[in-house]
Amino acid sequence: MCGIVGYTGHREAYPVVLKGLKRLEYRGYDSSGVALLNGGLKVYKKKGKVAEMEDAVVGKDLHSHIGIGHTRWATHGEPSDRNAHPHLSQSGDIAMIHNGIIENYAKIKTELVSKGYTFKSDTDTEVLLNFIDDIKKNNECSLEEAVRIALRRIVGAYCILLIHKDDPETIIAARKGSPLVIGIGKGEHFLASDASPIIEYTKEVVYVNDYEIAIVKPDELILKNLGNDKQTPFITKLDMELAAIEKGGYDHFMLKEIFEQPQTIFDCLRGRLDADKGTITMSGIEKYAEQIIQAGRIIIIACGTSWHAGLVAEYIIEELCRIPVEVEYASEFRYRNPIVNKGDVIIAISQSGETADTLVAIENAKEKGAIILGIVNVVGSSIARLSHAGAYTHAGPEIGVASTKAFTGQLAVLMMVALKLAQVKQTITAERYTSLCKELAEVPDKVADILKLDEHIQKLAEKYKDATDCLFLGRGYNFPIALEGALKLKEISYIHAEGYPAAEMKHGPIALVDEHLPVVFVATKDSYHEKVVSNMQEIKARKGKVIAVITEGDTVSPTLADDIIVLPPADEIIAPLLTTIPLQLLAYHIGIAKGYDVDKPRNLAKSVTVE
Ligand code: AGP
Ligand code: GLU
Repeated sequence: MCGIVGYTGHREAYPVVLKGLKRLEYRGYDSSGVALLNGGLKVYKKKGKVAEMEDAVVGKDLHSHIGIGHTRWATHGEPSDRNAHPHLSQSGDIAMIHNGIIENYAKIKTELVSKGYTFKSDTDTEVLLNFIDDIKKNNECSLEEAVRIALRRIVGAYCILLIHKDDPETIIAARKGSPLVIGIGKGEHFLASDASPIIEYTKEVVYVNDYEIAIVKPDELILKNLGNDKQTPFITKLDMELAAIEKGGYDHFMLKEIFEQPQTIFDCLRGRLDADKGTITMSGIEKYAEQIIQAGRIIIIACGTSWHAGLVAEYIIEELCRIPVEVEYASEFRYRNPIVNKGDVIIAISQSGETADTLVAIENAKEKGAIILGIVNVVGSSIARLSHAGAYTHAGPEIGVASTKAFTGQLAVLMMVALKLAQVKQTITAERYTSLCKELAEVPDKVADILKLDEHIQKLAEKYKDATDCLFLGRGYNFPIALEGALKLKEISYIHAEGYPAAEMKHGPIALVDEHLPVVFVATKDSYHEKVVSNMQEIKARKGKVIAVITEGDTVSPTLADDIIVLPPADEIIAPLLTTIPLQLLAYHIGIAKGYDVDKPRNLAKSVTVE
């Protein structure tokens, strides 16, 4: 939900923290700030993007070898200078930053107010900070001990970094439900929400676990649990290169990530799919294959684009494996007291691995005895570590807020899972299995071919960029892709768009159709094709503008559509990996044509780590 950066060591802290915040800005960006220690605690913070805070501190004395910084995505208190982080305790002794949401902050605030505390902000964070300050004073204990005592009472999610005015070396950090990575340097330590601000300094990192507290000095890192027991830091070597997080020559991260998909899908398949041998190796899944088959059903839990991937998986798993699949919005699933039995199999799909609703939904399910399989992109993320097993999508860091390469990575993994389970369950013929494995292996090259349509799609974007509404229609495996295409357009161009099953139009939405309404049909050659063409005729009869995504060789659709996007042929089960690509490009180019910040769309954050 936001970006957190900390530094303690021999360097000047401010430049390290500032650069780190800029690398994390995609995580949430309505305000930002830094705290330094130089003749007392100095806090500089400002509403808006990091660059605006940077401008505001020009000329200030920013010398300090310790510092913490934050980019905020507000949950309590509107985006403003006073609600920005870091916050200072009432005593002025402690500065703190926080990623997450303190659910029981109101009760604690009432207690503090009755003790005479006043608050400069409306945030839950400042309440936690003064709670810690109050405990430190009343117990005459260390800051570390005060944090430990306070956190035992906290309900909610947090990653917090604190520095004290009398300790120029130590950062106290703690996490539950929000991510924290610590980079191990020589006589210095780096702390951040993910590895991107750290990797240019060190590749050795520690992923802090939930309920752990870190006491971080330039040459010492101590990890403890809330019971004050020391924990052994597990050092991981990063394999992510700094270049991976640069734009690599593209105008925007989103475009870079769309064009990375031939490689990222290949990376996702690599080491798992061997089409020549007809083998799929997924140790995490294989370990649970029998239990999945015995479970009698699979529940898929996700949000947003990841939920659309789950919907594609439902169609494929039910078709190939004959296992009932339910696809649930995480936010609904966690609150409606769902029926989860011991041994149920839950597949959690998440790019960030930190989405609060998905995380809590699977925590609850795990407590009821369900087996959790995670399909996640961010290595070492909370959902990944909560899962019994799973598979990483290996799409690399996805910086653009709109998910593109992570989505196709999810689809590729889920197709392999379905094929693997169908083979184990013997619900697929050897011929179909081999044919689908070969088709899957060909996807990276087909995606590379489709990306050559970029200029053509850019022209379509120019033609339709002023639409105020748009419909996306598809059937079967392409229905979820219609939903995904609508979401992409909404979140990037702010045009209202809806995805629908193509046949559903006649039950009401067709009333929307007139000569101003663009209707995108995902109409590749499959077992639904003739029906989709009939739906296209229904739209044309009402003067709707039809943009049809079709398969080369289709001679009917072009007679109906105003514009066409022609894709190479593919089995209908594999087609979603191809049909989503032109819709990503269409959304991107319309967003650009409208002059919007496609990497940081308004109101959105890359990782929604609060409800
Ligand atoms: C995707 O384009 C959106 N930004 C959003 O719907 C996203 O898919 C959703 O928030 C889930 O995120 P996750 O995959 O990281 O859990
Ligand atoms: N809940 C805190 C606030 O609203 C932190 C939000 C965030 O994670 O950025 O300030």
